[in-house]
Amino acid sequence: MSFTEMWEALLPIGRDAESGGYHRFAWTPAELECRDWFRDEALRRDLAVEGDANGNLFAWWYPEGARGPAVLTGSHLDSVPGGGAYDGPLGIVSAFAAIDLLRERGARPGRPIGVAAFAEEEGARFGVACLGSRLLTGAIGPERARGLRDRDGLPLASVLAANGLDPERIGEDPGLLSRIGCFIELHVEQGRALREDRPVGVASAIVPHGRWRFGFAGEGNHAGTTLLADRRDPMLPFAEMVQAARRAAVRHGTLATVGRVEVVPNGVNAIPSAVTAWLDARGPADESVRATVAEVREEARRAAREHGVTVDLAEESYTPVVGFDTALRDRVAGVLGGAPVLPTGAGHDAGILAARMPTAMLFVRNPTGVSHAPAEHAEPDDCLAGVEALAAVLDDVAAG
Ligand code: GLV
Ligand code: MN
Ligand code: MN
Repeated sequence: MSFTEMWEALLPIGRDAESGGYHRFAWTPAELECRDWFRDEALRRDLAVEGDANGNLFAWWYPEGARGPAVLTGSHLDSVPGGGAYDGPLGIVSAFAAIDLLRERGARPGRPIGVAAFAEEEGARFGVACLGSRLLTGAIGPERARGLRDRDGLPLASVLAANGLDPERIGEDPGLLSRIGCFIELHVEQGRALREDRPVGVASAIVPHGRWRFGFAGEGNHAGTTLLADRRDPMLPFAEMVQAARRAAVRHGTLATVGRVEVVPNGVNAIPSAVTAWLDARGPADESVRATVAEVREEARRAAREHGVTVDLAEESYTPVVGFDTALRDRVAGVLGGAPVLPTGAGHDAGILAARMPTAMLFVRNPTGVSHAPAEHAEPDDCLAGVEALAAVLDDVAAG
């Protein structure tokens, strides 16, 4: 299967015919179909397929005589709601295609090469981004993870059990980690950083980022019979919190987004009883991100008091600044003939694994500059340039 054939096989899975956006949430039928595709592609290449206790998938190539810790590549198969086709799958399709190239060219890597599909990278189902790699590395405890619930209230533990995984066995896996020497993730670039430049870049850092859940609770009541003075409407402090997030981001030079909100009961003619909103905040430094969130929290509390509403706040995930291993980054950029080196505002499994091993990332140019939306794109020639680049990097790093 060529890159194009693999890409076309994945394209229809989980795609909304109207919007063109993808809905591939962890362990839902669309994502499970992508996992079946992963296993088929691995077996087609005689790679050894292994699933770990945390729901991550691996396909291993053990070239004859290869020894020592593996060079791992790959990415994730899940998507955000209505996401693009490239975020995640590009890294996995490119990994299989790069292995094909190395084999065609008679490469004999001195170290094993693995392809990973990490579970729930987007956190779109259970709220915690990079859940699979966080569990593998111990960045989230198994107890907390088992209690995570999806939008329908289903706990992670039951979803794992329904998919043949033992929820009691999730958590850090030092044995598996010791078999991996480094991780190199190829990913579509998610902004405008590579637009006018070369088709492939190398990551320098991931900026600090996190997610916070604001729960506003008031009193449900009739929209037509409840006087304004009698209302305890959680929609009002929620609306102020959204505006506060924008103001705080401007003040602190950060980014703040409220992209998800749940309203109970969500009826046109009912004052809501509860509004839950999620704040995503990112910025150049931990201090500015923390200051942004603190300011939004204060505004939310003030507005809630004013409207007779309560508000509680929970941090769902936080990733401090990640500086990728400079030796590996320079080696990768050197193999690619001095590829541009750039930071990213997007989170990745490579950022989680960076706490445990040298990691690096390759970015493939995205002409639209759009991501987490259907317009996310990479030109076919740029994708093939990405495959060539990944093959060259794997050839170099796995040499021995
Ligand atoms: C993942 O793509 C994120 O940055 O949220
Ligand atoms: Mn993403
Ligand atoms: Mn991604």
